[in-house]
Amino acid sequence: MKDSNFLKEQNARLLWHPMASPTDCIESPPVIVTAAEGSRIRDIDGHEAVDAVGGLWNVNLGYSCEPVKQAIADQLGTLPYYSAFRGTTNDKIIELAHELADFFGPDGMARAFFTSGGSDSVETALRLARQYHKIRGEAGRVKFLSLKKGYHGTHMGGASVNGNANFRTNYEPLLPGCHHIPAPYTYRNPFDESDPERLANLCAAALEDEIAFQGAGTIAAFIMEPILGAGGVIPPHSSFMPMVREICHRHGILLISDEVITGYGRTGAWSGARLWGVRPDMMSTAKAITNGYFPFGAVMIGERMADAFENDKSPNAFIGHGYTYSGHPVGAAAALACLAETRRLNVIESAAARGTELFDGLLALKDKHEQIGDVRGGHGLMLAIECVSDRATKTADIDMPLKVQKVAYDNGAMVRAAGPNLLMSPPLVLTSEDVQIIIAALDAGFSAL
Ligand SMILES: Cc1ncc(COP(=O)(O)O)c(C=O)c1O
Repeated sequence: MKDSNFLKEQNARLLWHPMASPTDCIESPPVIVTAAEGSRIRDIDGHEAVDAVGGLWNVNLGYSCEPVKQAIADQLGTLPYYSAFRGTTNDKIIELAHELADFFGPDGMARAFFTSGGSDSVETALRLARQYHKIRGEAGRVKFLSLKKGYHGTHMGGASVNGNANFRTNYEPLLPGCHHIPAPYTYRNPFDESDPERLANLCAAALEDEIAFQGAGTIAAFIMEPILGAGGVIPPHSSFMPMVREICHRHGILLISDEVITGYGRTGAWSGARLWGVRPDMMSTAKAITNGYFPFGAVMIGERMADAFENDKSPNAFIGHGYTYSGHPVGAAAALACLAETRRLNVIESAAARGTELFDGLLALKDKHEQIGDVRGGHGLMLAIECVSDRATKTADIDMPLKVQKVAYDNGAMVRAAGPNLLMSPPLVLTSEDVQIIIAALDAGFSAL
């Protein structure tokens, strides 16, 4: 390996980083992470920190999950790749589809379609939604509705249903026929409503209004995250997703639950939809399905859709969609091991318990630091602090999170700065001691402002 001087000198010079500006990366080079163990990462200078980002919402079981590592190594030895396009398959995806049907059975999911990650899963779900309506003779249902502040990856369809200008403006024009309604975001919303339940009702009414305006017969699907993640961790009131389910059902609109973050236990429930008692028509999943060790995803498809596709013998039901790596045997082997370990450790319990400890700690920080405008969490290990330069006027501050992040890292915790927010999504195997380190590091970060 090249020495550390070479690596530091070359850092970010010959590659562009995702979700970053090339010049910022040169001026403020990214941390070079060289090793990780348990819930901690180590950088090129040997500095260690609790990874409160959990990789990128995906390393739910931490960095030392031997069964997943072993499954990957074993699978590379027996079958490192084979295609799952028409005519061939592999043993691992047959087994994984069986496991997933069981895991997501309580959510009404019956079939899997494999992908290489979250954006692929979202794209797949959007495309299958349109095809479903065509199969059933409603070819006019082509539009998509979604929430402002939602994040659904960066493929063209996913970016079009995204609800954040940062991921849209420079890439426009996006897909026509994608329309957004206000998010149930109590801290800031066009209704000036801070009561979560009343706000949920207003957002549901906005959905009804948009459906009436567009015409239900033109809409294929509504896609939402059960708890909005990258948009700033926005948990809706518990009534919101059930109301959305009912509205979609009444208008013949499919409901896609984007579970790329919330699937596999992060919220303290096995899926975000289950947290809210909702059975969607499809779920897009990825990230923690392999603990982040292999790029992989699965779209889960509900009974109703499965029936429509499987009972249609015409060319309409031919799935003209898929990726070279759909059903990659190494990813599937990793996912099988990961699911087994996820269940064995029953991570929903630790997600809920550590999530409560961290949420309480962040709320205490809010009492201490004026710059914390809002703290969001309360459902497992998805949390955010929204930074403001003035609490009374809620003036957003997008430089502050970067400053806090830097000091917090020096003090032993990696958190993620995204716009005015500090986002936290640590491994679900985090200890109470790790939680305290994160809180103390953030305290140091805000104290240094
Ligand atoms: C809810 C949601 N959907 C989709 C994606 C896109 O996933 P990926 O980055 O694996 O393409 C993400 C990524 O964070 C996500 O949070």
